[in-house]
Amino acid sequence: MELQGKAAHSAAIRERAEAEMKAIGVDEAFIGTLVDTFYARVLAHPELGPVFDARLSGRWPEHMEKMKSFWSAVAFRSGAYGGKPVQAHLGVANMSPELFPKWLALFTATLDDIAPNQEAKAWFTSTAERIARSLTLSLFYNPALDDPALKRS
Ligand code: HEM
Repeated sequence: MELQGKAAHSAAIRERAEAEMKAIGVDEAFIGTLVDTFYARVLAHPELGPVFDARLSGRWPEHMEKMKSFWSAVAFRSGAYGGKPVQAHLGVANMSPELFPKWLALFTATLDDIAPNQEAKAWFTSTAERIARSLTLSLFYNPALDDPALKRS
């Protein structure tokens, strides 16, 4: 009974997400195009390109598949992605908080060129901003540094 309730609940969440994406013209094909176009631009970017390529050289095809399932899982609430984004970024050399606004600017510029409409652009932009903020906090800010006891000393 309990399990059936949970399954019905996740099915309802998935259905709502699918309907929301359909209403703004987003489907799996668009997610594929977005990921392909964005990472081609990342690779060509003077600062982002080397950071990504140093880590992903020889593993780009797997990364692209992973990013497609990541965005698909976020958009359609499908459970298609089961990775750990914070851990994945911990080992990336030359990662810095300053790179995030550059990543977001490139992502937004890509959406300007290829998003099917303004609503789709707004959905991907705000979702990426939220995830980028949470990644930045997890990767670079240690809450202990805000401890008032530390500030006094
Ligand atoms: C400057 C910003 C960023 C840099 C330099 C960066 C770099 C990377 C690199 C090098 C990897 C591959 C890690 C590996 O497989 O060894 C990776 C994975 C990933 N990135 Fe980022 N990233 C950035 C921002 C973001 C943002 C904003 C998002 C989400 C909107 C994101 C989502 C992911 C995900 C889901 C993975 C796959 C994690 C896994 O292995 O399951 N990244 N990133």
